[in-house]
Amino acid sequence: MRHQIRIALVHGPLRAEEQLLLAEFDRRGIPCDRIYDRTARIELAGPPWPYDLVLGRSVSQQRALHIASVCAAWGIATINPPQVLDVCNDKLRTSAALAAAGVPQPRTVIAFSPEEAVAAMEELGYPVVLKPPLGSWGRLLARVNSRAAAEALLRHKLALGGFHHGTFYIQEHVEKPGRDIRAFVVGEETICAIYRTSEHWITNTARGGRASNCPVTPELAELCGRAARAVGGGVLAIDVFEHPERGLLVNEVNANMEFRNSIKPTGVDIPARIVDYALALARGGKRLAPSLPVAAP
Ligand SMILES: Nc1ncnc2c1ncn2[C@@H]1O[C@H](COP(=O)(O)OP(=O)(O)O)[C@@H](O)[C@H]1O
Ligand SMILES: [Mg+2]
Repeated sequence: MRHQIRIALVHGPLRAEEQLLLAEFDRRGIPCDRIYDRTARIELAGPPWPYDLVLGRSVSQQRALHIASVCAAWGIATINPPQVLDVCNDKLRTSAALAAAGVPQPRTVIAFSPEEAVAAMEELGYPVVLKPPLGSWGRLLARVNSRAAAEALLRHKLALGGFHHGTFYIQEHVEKPGRDIRAFVVGEETICAIYRTSEHWITNTARGGRASNCPVTPELAELCGRAARAVGGGVLAIDVFEHPERGLLVNEVNANMEFRNSIKPTGVDIPARIVDYALALARGGKRLAPSLPVAAP
């Protein structure tokens, strides 16, 4: 007889997403333990947590990565796997993975000094977009319209920024049609997508972008499938731009996604799809080989 599957959801402050996922497990009569990351204390030597699958829903990207890393070391499957979080937490590593897979993306240049950053911006042609490689919710993004603005911004970054402002991630500014696309991928399938429309060039719904349904065309599904595979697959949200000449471009891949605003417009039960995937993974016994010595449970 198959054992009762054991699942835990690791969380920080409980957002709508975590509540929806817990409610979905509950609705199906599947027990799901809750682990509050802030009070977790983990002995690396074990015993390992007694789960078939850990669903990482920490708000902190670093916490999510660290907890998934320990689970992987114990041979516990996680959504998402640490390798995927590691790539997606960092825009530069995501871009490198997309480039390696030949996935179209905005032109992107990396520089490590203000002088080279300005030279890169001049070469790309204004406006350009400067982003911290680690970050989300549209924080600390800058659209730079001139050399004078670039020089001032870089001086400020140097004087005030922390160490993670030492890598300059610079992109061409894509002239979007007042919106961009966020597509939701679960296990490589693009299950739905929204347009995020905004008067502001930063369209994140956390910054006031409005969500409406975006049809999943074969082209979008194919592109997002490729982007998901490029970073290792899982439960992902993919930002896509509609470039006026070059068509669909992948901007970034989010591995700690929020989806509360996208259920209603798309009519797709995103938490149910995530739970389906989690159960398949837990039942499939898709266990990883432990990479740390652990005590017998
Ligand atoms: N190169 C760009 N050209 C035009 N708009 C951009 C560009 N980069 C980012 N944006 C806008 O800013 C938003 C946030 O940027 P993104 O790279 O997704 O960072 P975050 O991780 O903060 O979401 C995007 O959804 C898009 O609306
Ligand atoms: Mg984004």
